[in-house]
Amino acid sequence: VVNHERVWMSSFLQAMVGVHSSDVLYLSLPLYHTSGFLMGLCGAIERGITVVLRRKFSVSNFWNDCRKHNVTAIQYIGEIIRYLCNTPKKDNDKDHKVRLALGNGIRSDTWVDFLQRFGNVRICECYGATESNVGFVNYVGKVGAIGREHFLYKDTLSYTFKLYDTEKEEPVRNSRGFCIEVPKGETGLLVGKIGQKTPFYGYAKNKQQTEKKKLRDVFEQGDLYFNSGDLLRIDEEGFVYFQDRIGDTFRWKGENVATTEVADHLLTVDFIEEANVYGVKVPGHEGRIGMAALKLKENTDFDGTAIYQHVKNYLPSYARPRFLRIQDAVAVTGTFKQLKAKLAEEGFDPAVIQDPLFFLEDGKGYVPMTQEILTAITEGTLKL
Ligand SMILES: *[C@@H]1O[C@H](CO)[C@@H](O)[C@H](O)[C@H]1NC(C)=O
Repeated sequence: VVNHERVWMSSFLQAMVGVHSSDVLYLSLPLYHTSGFLMGLCGAIERGITVVLRRKFSVSNFWNDCRKHNVTAIQYIGEIIRYLCNTPKKDNDKDHKVRLALGNGIRSDTWVDFLQRFGNVRICECYGATESNVGFVNYVGKVGAIGREHFLYKDTLSYTFKLYDTEKEEPVRNSRGFCIEVPKGETGLLVGKIGQKTPFYGYAKNKQQTEKKKLRDVFEQGDLYFNSGDLLRIDEEGFVYFQDRIGDTFRWKGENVATTEVADHLLTVDFIEEANVYGVKVPGHEGRIGMAALKLKENTDFDGTAIYQHVKNYLPSYARPRFLRIQDAVAVTGTFKQLKAKLAEEGFDPAVIQDPLFFLEDGKGYVPMTQEILTAITEGTLKL
């Protein structure tokens, strides 16, 4: 439910991060989402600025558009920045007037790359969700942080970070049935108290989903919080870091595996362009085993040994993707969010999946997945 109050509030984000009335905003995000529509377009109307609207994000036209229209502010989601950094370097990379970028979901390494390559752009990373009653803004440009805590802010929003059990997929509760706050520096589930100043309007015509996002009896009997579904961490200086989204973590051999972290490692292998990591169920096993759908860079070949060496060096054994699936394109939504559930459902049966499949054989590396391997796994003769 996006009411007028909600639109009004989101439209001030540009003012908060320092967009001026003389700025020109380049917007290539879809307008059926909060980012593009509320933060972008409505924010620009609030500022009274020119918007350069592109129907669809285009990596090859991005900087030319910016140059042509004297763009000074851009709006991103993390993947856009990464796509831009992945293009071949050009002499005119720094030839533009963009001074500010606002958005969300940029990763630290991409952030550093982007600044080195495209010059002095102030990156304002924001955190929030359409329905969320709490959000953060990193207005000081601290690389990697999604925001900074402020005591006034904390007072108004009254959010806390709760200990979360990724196995049971619910917050940990003490003997009296209340949630447990995590100490500073540790990862917890972000929840925001639902109140008059921090309302949660829920989902249109969907009471069930709305109720699912509400968390009761957090501190005391009868209190009510919005469950963000995000695991965050605050450091000693008050900077807030995104750790994981619930559902983006799976458990294997009693260990938590953060899919984004594994994907980040895979992306450093030079021929991997996209990596979508998820957990798949294995008959006779608790939890889920790691699997990755990969898109290779153009004109490169799959090198199972190189990937094996890499994951062996950088990831503990429980986090190494046991199966790889090579795809022509990694499935994403209109705002470039990766689709994991369907892939996880499809699993690793070579008779079902048409894409090339590989299996990580202990001490050997990635070998083509076969029906024999599958049988050995399901019969339990091959230990995972
Ligand atoms: C961009 O700026 C240049 C130099 O200030 C100016 O000549 C040009 O007309 C501007 N272009 C647009 C589209 O505003």
